[in-house]
Amino acid sequence: MELLEDCLDANRRWAAARRAQDPAFFRRLEALQSPDLLWIGCSDSRLPPNEIIGRQPGELFVHRNVANIVEHTDLNCLAVLQFAIDVLKVRHVIVCGHYGCGGVRAALDSRRLGLIDTWLRNIRDVRVRHREELAALAGAPARADRLAELNVLTQVANVCHTNIVQDAWRRGQSLSVHGWIYSLADGLLRDLSLNVDSPDQIAPEHRFDR
Ligand code: CO
Repeated sequence: MELLEDCLDANRRWAAARRAQDPAFFRRLEALQSPDLLWIGCSDSRLPPNEIIGRQPGELFVHRNVANIVEHTDLNCLAVLQFAIDVLKVRHVIVCGHYGCGGVRAALDSRRLGLIDTWLRNIRDVRVRHREELAALAGAPARADRLAELNVLTQVANVCHTNIVQDAWRRGQSLSVHGWIYSLADGLLRDLSLNVDSPDQIAPEHRFDR
């Protein structure tokens, strides 16, 4: 139990330090949540979203799952997306993957891990769609890195294909969706230069007109 007591002690110190720095901090946050950003990232313990992009509590709405997947029937992810866009009115959705992602590596491997294999089928599908590009790369690490990028690009598209995002655009709400990737090796984010802010940028087959 020592570990858990450590956590609770650390929490008490953190709350006291916050109050010392800004006595109104918790009262203000309790009354209002108005983040501009929604982060959809991997559950990996090595990339704490707020910390790596310097956002304070209250500034970042977060959804995380193994390998940052946006699956069309995932009620959890879709509810986060809908609440963030319709109610909180976030202006940016960032899908952030990372190099060295265990979920991506598992999707390149034939070993069974359990229920998680079903979830990672999403990435296996990305792998199949880009089979030739991946096969042309030398070595497993290069293939895993590229698949992590391709996964982010796919999930950005999946966000944009939802009627949640398309309805927001149709209402004239300012909303853009971005794909980033994080390197565990140097702690830096890279912008994958996929920034979508209108239905013109998505495939016609995925566009809703009304
Ligand atoms: Co990961």
